[in-house]
Amino acid sequence: HRTLRVALLGAGSVGSQVARLLLEQADELASRAGAGLELIGIAVRDVDAKRDVDLPHELYTTDADQLILQADVVIELMGGIEPARSLIMLALETGADVVTANKALVAAHGPELFSLAERVGAQLHYEAAVAGAIPIIRPLRDSLAGDRVDRILGIVNGTTNFILDRMDTRGDTLEEALRIATDLGYAEADPTADIEGHDAQQKAAILASIAFHTEVPVDRVHREGITKVTSAQIEQAARAGYVVKLLAICERTHGADGEEGVSARVYPALVARSHPLASVHGGNNAVFVQAAAAGSLMFYGAGAGGVETASAVLGDVVSVARRRVQGGPGLGESMHAGLPVLDIDDITTRY
Ligand code: HSE
Repeated sequence: HRTLRVALLGAGSVGSQVARLLLEQADELASRAGAGLELIGIAVRDVDAKRDVDLPHELYTTDADQLILQADVVIELMGGIEPARSLIMLALETGADVVTANKALVAAHGPELFSLAERVGAQLHYEAAVAGAIPIIRPLRDSLAGDRVDRILGIVNGTTNFILDRMDTRGDTLEEALRIATDLGYAEADPTADIEGHDAQQKAAILASIAFHTEVPVDRVHREGITKVTSAQIEQAARAGYVVKLLAICERTHGADGEEGVSARVYPALVARSHPLASVHGGNNAVFVQAAAAGSLMFYGAGAGGVETASAVLGDVVSVARRRVQGGPGLGESMHAGLPVLDIDDITTRY
């Protein structure tokens, strides 16, 4: 059967696990994909850097452009806007399909990248960009496409959930808990993105865009992080039967004039201990979806971590490989149906 040439950009905690699984589970992945998946190289900044996983040294290269030109499928796990954005564009323009976990990029430049993919007939998948291992992009976009999503309540940042949970259950300080979360591979390279809520804000923009078939820019998502949450507040909340969670809340709004809008916001909120979201512990994530016909659904699991997130990345790789082997035009994985940007109300509710 056919073999697809796979290029990996980035060998951090997720990238190194993706590479390991591509090598160790090559036969199984090939039978699922209907094509061999040959890892042809890993683009990194420093080929001699110390890494979590031992991989054949000859796979590493600093020449990402050259690697991309030889690939059928490009997996982008570098994070950040540049050079990730230019490299993904290069990959799409040269006829490769792309899998990325880059929420910052999808949130800021999604529409531009998806329209390029559509134009060239390439596939661009990003299941791992939101909530790590949890399948949430495809369920929202495909499984719920026949329903009407009214509201999403998400715990979409593992680092802050881990920190708030440790403060609640063990009395750790924010700094102590953040150190452990970093060791576990949950935190971003710059953990400010986690604790100040930027990471959750980007994920909220992506979820709201898909769920409401519109385009929600990151800067229209209200954001508060967890740095001002004190142990005293957590104790007080506990006594009253609540737990403090950093929530991403995305919902449809209806103005007095009947005008429809969308609101997306991230802030530390009080969640009743009896709510399913209250039992999301450690670095786990959960996305609670309320839809008109389906009612309430909850998607739960590991929201961060190298090998966990690698699961979602490889799911996308198998999916693009299947379609590539079967032929036919690319999916045109657009986040929204080209509808106009709806009014977005900034609602600020504090806990
Ligand atoms: N830093 C992120 C988190 C990683 O803690 O959830 C997954 O996007």
